[in-house]
Amino acid sequence: MMLFFIIFLVGIAIYFADDILRRHAKAIYLFSILCSFCAFLVLEDKIPAFRTIQYLVQELFGKGILASVLFLYVMIAPVLSKQWTLRKKIYGLRANLAIIASFLIFSHNLFQSRRVDLVAFSFGTIDSFVYLSSLWMVILLIPLTVTSFASIRKKIAVKQWKKIQKLSYLFYTLFYIHIVLVSWGPLQMGNTGAIQNLIVYTFIFGTYALFRIGIVIQNKYKEISLKPYLARSFSGFICLLFLVYLALCHQTEASYASIESPSKNSTLTIQETLEAIPSSLQESVQLETQGSQESKQDTKKSSAFSKETKAEEGGIYKDGTYQGSAKGYRGNIEIEVEIQGGKISDLKVLSSREDQKYFQRAWNYLSQKILEGKETAELDTVSGATYSSKGIRNAIQNALEQAQ
Ligand code: HEM
Repeated sequence: MMLFFIIFLVGIAIYFADDILRRHAKAIYLFSILCSFCAFLVLEDKIPAFRTIQYLVQELFGKGILASVLFLYVMIAPVLSKQWTLRKKIYGLRANLAIIASFLIFSHNLFQSRRVDLVAFSFGTIDSFVYLSSLWMVILLIPLTVTSFASIRKKIAVKQWKKIQKLSYLFYTLFYIHIVLVSWGPLQMGNTGAIQNLIVYTFIFGTYALFRIGIVIQNKYKEISLKPYLARSFSGFICLLFLVYLALCHQTEASYASIESPSKNSTLTIQETLEAIPSSLQESVQLETQGSQESKQDTKKSSAFSKETKAEEGGIYKDGTYQGSAKGYRGNIEIEVEIQGGKISDLKVLSSREDQKYFQRAWNYLSQKILEGKETAELDTVSGATYSSKGIRNAIQNALEQAQ
């Protein structure tokens, strides 16, 4: 949703503010650097900000959506119809937009690079591909951005400049690969937001690739009219995307439906009720809406938790040490639960691949509350660390099931 919104807003801004962008280019570059820097400080909690601001900064800068949308406009402009006013405007501003995007993506690069866990880094994993593709993107951006400045462009021979700019094809390819790789985890968890975003990105990159190839062929074989073929391929591509989207949504719904309809005799365990939360609620980092949405939708979860808490108060657990595991944002979280006198006396993290900063935030809150013996129904997910919070709660519950 946010992606749609930003695509729309940026399109409007380019359409109506193209003159300002052109005339005050240098001031806008400086402003972009400042925004990127401030956003980084907000992301790192160095500047306090309201929750709404935090959420926007996380989405626009932390996830790199704002800069990425600008890159997408720069990329797609050459394949848009030459009659479109928006196309003419973007085309004339391509260099400016690319420079602004490069400055804006800086906060994303820095923020995400700092989250890389070098200790757990191993080649061949999805994470390693994410980081390697990112590294190449950053390297490619340097010559592409530098040569976009008019003053530098003038100093380079046209042939040489075009050669350098051809690196952008590699950049776009890595860009798409990067998006697929970072969407992989959320997709596997049935995150509908991630499915929608991936479909939108695939639509944009696919359309670009299709028409770009069409232009190359047309330039080579001028006598053939490619228009009908392109129109058919484009329609086919849209139908295919739509089918993939439906299939992915169906798969997600099916997996939740099977959890949501247990047999009549069975009672829902906390694990089951938590898993039955609709996937739409599993959006990561819903800083602003998370609290209210979850409290509405988690009624089932709360009652199950209350039941369990009462049992816990009665000390029904068998003394001993139990291990439980559950999926977090980046993979399984394993937790050890120690029971003494029928109650939880200690909690330990055995393994986790979560981002340390987010995991720690969720762990500090949840473990403290559970050890304090607080009503487990009160335990909400920690804002900004939704997946990790759910993973921790599920892993603890998984261990407790063995202690009953
Ligand atoms: C020019 C460089 C880059 C571009 C254009 C870019 C673009 C993006 C975009 C568009 C997303 C959001 C995908 C989505 O969920 O919708 C994303 C997510 C992500 N990127 Fe990058 N990225 C770049 C560099 C980097 C670097 C240097 C790193 C780290 C080493 C990185 C790590 C990540 C991670 C971990 C995510 C997932 C974030 C989350 O879901 O919270 N990216 N990137």
